[in-house]
Amino acid sequence: MAPMTTARIVIDAGAKGPVISPNIYGHFAEHLGRCVYEGLWVGEKSRIPNVRGIRKDVVAALRKMKLPVLRWPGGCFADEYHWMDGIGPRAKRPTIVNTHWGGVTENNHFGTHEFMDLCDQAGCAPYVCGNVGSGTVREMQQWVEYVTFGGKSPMADLRRKHGRKEPWKLPYFGVGNENWGCGGNMRPEYYADEYRRYQTYVRNFGDNRIFKIACGPNDDDRYWTEVLMREARGQMQGLSLHMYSLVGGWEDKGSATAFDESGWFKLLARGLRMGELVAAHAAIMDRFDPQKKVALVVDEWGSWYNVEKGTNPGFLYQQNTVRDALLAGVTLNIFNNHADRVRMANIAQLVNVLQAVVLTDGAKMLLTPTYHVFEMYAVHQGATQLPVAVEAPGIGPEGAKVPAVTASASVDAGGRIHLSLCHLDPGAAADVEVRIQGAGPATVSGRVLTAPAIQAHNTFAKPSTVKPAAFTGATVAAGVLRASLPPRSVVVLELF
Ligand code: AHR
Repeated sequence: MAPMTTARIVIDAGAKGPVISPNIYGHFAEHLGRCVYEGLWVGEKSRIPNVRGIRKDVVAALRKMKLPVLRWPGGCFADEYHWMDGIGPRAKRPTIVNTHWGGVTENNHFGTHEFMDLCDQAGCAPYVCGNVGSGTVREMQQWVEYVTFGGKSPMADLRRKHGRKEPWKLPYFGVGNENWGCGGNMRPEYYADEYRRYQTYVRNFGDNRIFKIACGPNDDDRYWTEVLMREARGQMQGLSLHMYSLVGGWEDKGSATAFDESGWFKLLARGLRMGELVAAHAAIMDRFDPQKKVALVVDEWGSWYNVEKGTNPGFLYQQNTVRDALLAGVTLNIFNNHADRVRMANIAQLVNVLQAVVLTDGAKMLLTPTYHVFEMYAVHQGATQLPVAVEAPGIGPEGAKVPAVTASASVDAGGRIHLSLCHLDPGAAADVEVRIQGAGPATVSGRVLTAPAIQAHNTFAKPSTVKPAAFTGATVAAGVLRASLPPRSVVVLELF
């Protein structure tokens, strides 16, 4: 029997931190593979139950998970997307080629109206990413006018002609995507100027107020952050960051399901780099913006593996195990703990692509282990962060060491404290002692997500192999919580 790990945690319930933006729990849906088409949009004539062409089963799952915000239409697709292709009678919309993702045909049946309808149905805020790489300033200006202007103008009239009388609310707009790469291969100095120009015409019509997000760094490109903050911080409300976790390199990214303990640790160690990156970029932002007016928006993150065998390499379809649940949990703990600067994040991607929360196969749908983590962690949305200090041993091989336990905590409007714990040991249980300073909760309850093996995942034949269960392994008395965490587990506790 493997030895038990003991971790010690202190929650400072008297020292309230910032509010954890619900948008930290955001998602991303690109015109890529089977994310939009099939995963979200099946068309009004489909035998798959839908509301105005949008899948009912997926929308119900997203509502239950409390999806707060959804980024669309890309990704790399955004900087080649011309929004006017996606409005008007569907039969008349142009068919184009999706050059980035498999060279497949894109019929533009899912466009602006369908996206806004999806957000209404799912109960989330829309975050639209505009085209800087191959689009014009005028095109971007007109898109915003089309969506948000309530008066009389060519774009507002066009919107009405296509069936939408009232303007929509559009709270978030990204000015380009990965403009250091697929969005135009720009240098930061050049993009900073382009950003300043394009964003000028992203207007606030009526009472709609747009939170403008500039393309930020790739991974640890600190120079990009430095230049953008120096040259354009006054024109942005958010700066993005993209960071993916791979087990290998881009040529061979490793398998989503066939891995051993070394693959377990490698992936989690890669994912935990998010904490260093957020801290490094935030430190640069602090120099230019000590009042933290500009949010760090981690609008693409998650695991990226080799595609599932037999699937289109351009579709980025991968499975999702309890290892990915841990990756989601440790990353969301990092974001909660940096809620002062990280005020939005969007895992890639929502359905059928990369670290998806939902997978579909025709009319079938399953919830991945990652879904369950987002649903369990939803208690942190809009709650007040509580500082946590974690003392836990490092585990794993040299070069891929990770802390055995990570944590974050918050207190909600009703005074309930929520503590999310990730236990990264693949094989041994851990005893955890948590001192709660400044509060004396009398009860503890919670849920646990774990699995019989590190490779465990849900399939269409067995969709419930990894799912949350009630957690009974915790007690609380005199401000001290004791919990016994199973190996490879995510536990969310409520203390009251
Ligand atoms: O999420 C897949 C792709 O990864 C996105 O299109 C792009 O922005 C990133 O490189």
